[in-house]
Amino acid sequence: MAAAIPILSACWYDADSDRGHAIAEALCANCHDLSSAATIKHAPPLWKIVGRVPGTVKGFDYSQDFLTLVATKKFVWQEESLDFFLSNPNQFLPDNKMSKFELSSTGTYTTPETYSTTDRKLNKAKLALLKLGHYELFHGLQASDERDDLIEFLYTLR
Ligand code: HEC
Repeated sequence: MAAAIPILSACWYDADSDRGHAIAEALCANCHDLSSAATIKHAPPLWKIVGRVPGTVKGFDYSQDFLTLVATKKFVWQEESLDFFLSNPNQFLPDNKMSKFELSSTGTYTTPETYSTTDRKLNKAKLALLKLGHYELFHGLQASDERDDLIEFLYTLR
C-alpha cells in the first residue's frame, strides 16, 4: 500500500513573525503599546488583540464611528478582519481615529528607522510628515506579504 503523501501547503506564503515584529515596531508602536503591560498610548494596546471584541479596551476613548461600526458588525479581531482593516483602515471605517490621527501639541513620534533598514519601501512623504509630528500616519499596508507577517506577529501577542 502506498504511503499517504502529505499535502504540503507550499504555495502559501510562509509568514514571518520576526519581520512582522519589525513592521509593527515601525508602523504601529508609536501609537499602540505592543507589550504585555497593555498600556494605553495614543491608541488601545495590541496585547491579546486576537480574539478581542473591537472597541472594548476600558479607559480608551474610541471614536464614536468606530464604536458604532463594531456594534453593528459584531465581529472579533482575527486573521480576516485584521487583514481587511490593516489593508485599508479608511475603507473599513472612514472616520476612524487611526488614519486621521492628529498629535497633541505635547505628543511626539519616533521615526521608524527599523522599518527603513529592511528592504521594504517607505513612503518618504509620509515619513516627512511624521517627522513634523503630523497626522495621517497609518493608511494601510498594501503588500499582502507584509500584512501576513504583521498578523502572524499579532497572533504572538498573548
Ligand atoms: C497614528 C496612530 C496609530 C497608528 C500608527 C496605528 N494605529 Fe491602530 N489605532 C489607532 C487608534 C487611535 C485606534 C482607535 C480607533 C478609533 O477609535 O477610531 C486604533 C485602533 C486599532 C485597532 C482596533 C483596536 C480595538 O481595541 O478594537 C487595531 C487592531 C489596530 N489599531 C491595529 C494597528 C496596527 C496593527 C497598526 C500598525 C500597522 C496600527 N494600528 C497603527 C491609532 C494608530
